[in-house]
Amino acid sequence: MENPLNFSASPPMTPLPGKRRKEETVGFMTWDERFSVGVKTLDEEHKVLFGILNELYDAMKRGQAQVVTGHLLKKLADYTRRHFASEEAKMTASGFAGLAEHRDKHRDLIQRVEQFIVRFERGDIMLSVDLFNFLRDWLTTHIQKTDKEYGPWLTGHGVH
Ligand code: FEO
Repeated sequence: MENPLNFSASPPMTPLPGKRRKEETVGFMTWDERFSVGVKTLDEEHKVLFGILNELYDAMKRGQAQVVTGHLLKKLADYTRRHFASEEAKMTASGFAGLAEHRDKHRDLIQRVEQFIVRFERGDIMLSVDLFNFLRDWLTTHIQKTDKEYGPWLTGHGVH
């Protein structure tokens, strides 16, 4: 299929050994078990974030007005804040030792998105492929590296 914005799609996924691949397509970004942190409620929140990014992708692809993309960027930042708070509450309640470091990463991530929003609203930057790729990588790298660290601890403490 033609890809006029030249987005790099997610790399082909290999089924996990011994498991049936459970895949859920959410627009151009696809959530699958590679992104599972083992905690169902947090996986669901991550899927919402994927969904908002896909809305942004669609808006950009359709060349929608700045007011639409600006609204979606704010929606992404708002939901991200709620999600980070939810994750931190679970880490706090279960006594996860990596909480402080994880919280610092959250602060850094949200700050970077907020800076993008300020520049976007000023008209310094447009919603571009580069910005979109930054947001996509920002989310997927954090989930796959940092979030996965709390999975075994939280599930071992009855958090689902
Ligand atoms: Fe799912 Fe640490 O954010």
